[in-house]
Amino acid sequence: MEKKQLDWSNLGFGYIQTEKRYVSTYKDGAWSEGMITEDPMVTLNECAGVFQYAQTVFEGMKAYTTEDGRIVTFRPDLNASRMADSARRLEMPVFPEEKFIDAVVQTVKANAAYVPPFGSGASLYIRPYMMGTNPVIGVKPADEYMFRIFVTPVGPYFKGGAKPIAIKVSDFDRAAPNGTGHIKAGLNYAMSLHAIVTAHEEGFAENMYLDAKTRTKVEETGGANFIFITKDNKLVTPKSSSILPSITRRSLMYVAEHYLDMKVEEREVELAEVKDFAEAGLCGTAAVVSPVGKIVDHGTEICLPSGMSEMGPVTKKLYDTLTGIQMGRIKAPEGWIKEIC
Ligand code: PLP
Ligand code: COI
Repeated sequence: MEKKQLDWSNLGFGYIQTEKRYVSTYKDGAWSEGMITEDPMVTLNECAGVFQYAQTVFEGMKAYTTEDGRIVTFRPDLNASRMADSARRLEMPVFPEEKFIDAVVQTVKANAAYVPPFGSGASLYIRPYMMGTNPVIGVKPADEYMFRIFVTPVGPYFKGGAKPIAIKVSDFDRAAPNGTGHIKAGLNYAMSLHAIVTAHEEGFAENMYLDAKTRTKVEETGGANFIFITKDNKLVTPKSSSILPSITRRSLMYVAEHYLDMKVEEREVELAEVKDFAEAGLCGTAAVVSPVGKIVDHGTEICLPSGMSEMGPVTKKLYDTLTGIQMGRIKAPEGWIKEIC
């Protein structure tokens, strides 16, 4: 298989259309067999549930080329089960978890020429998504659905890659206490668009959202969870029922404890204590581990001691170990790596 001629090392986080994608449809209570198709267009009725009441959920994962030339993906079983949770919360039929993994494998295999080479710093972003497709005008769930997966080769999510970013404490809330913050629903991202445009206009890379009820506790950003490193080398990460249960964060907690011999605390994190941490970072599939150098809270600057020029040393160790596992340089815990071809 010949790789595409792309400038792999200079890719941003954007959409590059590839030749193949996966599609399966749900009708009369059953999912179709599912197949690879070349058609990137989705044509739906004007009244489709997804257009009227935003009935759509999605996932984000990556495929990598390992040093010895295999194509692998990372913990797809967790994306399959999180997508099932998302679907249940939005009254959508679950796309069976085994079928999800098989669909990911088929889609990546069909696009193997687009999986960036080892060492390029790029990866193949995989976007499974699902939507209500039949006409719905009274507020109720659709009866028919489409599940699709497309892929796109990507570089770093934040410009500058491993350079620390500055973020702001948002005046907007991302998720309500009993809302949908813990699932990956398109609606969570739609309502974050105004906040991210505002943050970008003010020169910030992202928003730090606080808990909507008390506005005193750290939740997450628009597209990643937080990790913090204490001055005595503990990993602290916010616990909340209204943040997305990040697979990267769960993996980093394991890596910190079992590979780096660190203590790990998943607990409520007060905004007021952030100034006492030694390092801060964002974690997610797209963000990987992105260092945060500065957090601005309405004119008050919280400058992390790790600074704005380089990733802090502990964040770097976490980053190196996690990406080493994902790219096959470091032995992975049982079941974390799914070989595709
Ligand atoms: N939080 C939000 C809001 C996200 O969109 C993402 C990205 O998927 C994450 C956290 C990180 O989750 P994961 O590590 O599973 O990609
Ligand atoms: C991901 O990390 O996969 C996401 O879905 C986050 C998004 C901001 C790209």
